[in-house]
Amino acid sequence: MKKTYLLLALTGLACSLQAQDIQLPSPTRSGGKALMETLNERRSERTFVKKEMPLQTLSDLLWAANGFNRTDKRTAPTASNKQEQELYVVIDDKAYFHDARQNVLKFVARGDFSAALGQANITSKAAVNIVIVADNGKSSTKYAYLDSGYISQNIYLYAASAGLGTVARGSYNGKELSQALKLAEKQEVTLVHPVGYLQ
Ligand SMILES: Cc1cc2nc3c(=O)[nH]c(=O)nc-3n(C[C@H](O)[C@H](O)[C@H](O)COP(=O)(O)O)c2cc1C
Repeated sequence: MKKTYLLLALTGLACSLQAQDIQLPSPTRSGGKALMETLNERRSERTFVKKEMPLQTLSDLLWAANGFNRTDKRTAPTASNKQEQELYVVIDDKAYFHDARQNVLKFVARGDFSAALGQANITSKAAVNIVIVADNGKSSTKYAYLDSGYISQNIYLYAASAGLGTVARGSYNGKELSQALKLAEKQEVTLVHPVGYLQ
């Protein structure tokens, strides 16, 4: 009997240590606060209470940020519809690529991302850190920087609507973060958005 418990405990430990892809539930795509109220509440927040984000909330957040709201187009516009923007999500010591079409978080890496993300007083307390990444092979850097701003505003608006906090952050360590996320040469981090729970 003891052996069985030990085996179950070890299996559980192995599963929790194993880095896996995460299939997110379908995004809600309705509801939320009225637009004018949401705009009135949009602001940068930097003080969070550490709390796990439910997968439904994460799915809604990522969909609002840059999900597909039509067969082949997204909640955020891009110049000439190049769709050069993708999202990575850092949750504690794990980093994922958000496959927006499949709504799957694809495991990328495990490690300590705090130095790469910067401002640890903010980023370590956030439930998730969304990393906006542009593919400069698909679009010019000028448009890529502009396009990432729309995603940032979508994140701000979702956070305000859902009673969460967020802040756009340009003060990350780009080189370190690119390496940690295993980005290709033409991919560039354009913003980091911690999203977390308010006091
Ligand atoms: C492109 C961009 C980069 C930013 N970078 C940082 C940053 O690195 N750290 C930070 O604490 N806030 C950062 N901010 C947040 C601004 O400081 C904030 O938006 C500004 O003070 C106005 O406050 P509000 O967003 O509450 O209106 C950034 C904002 C933008 C738009």
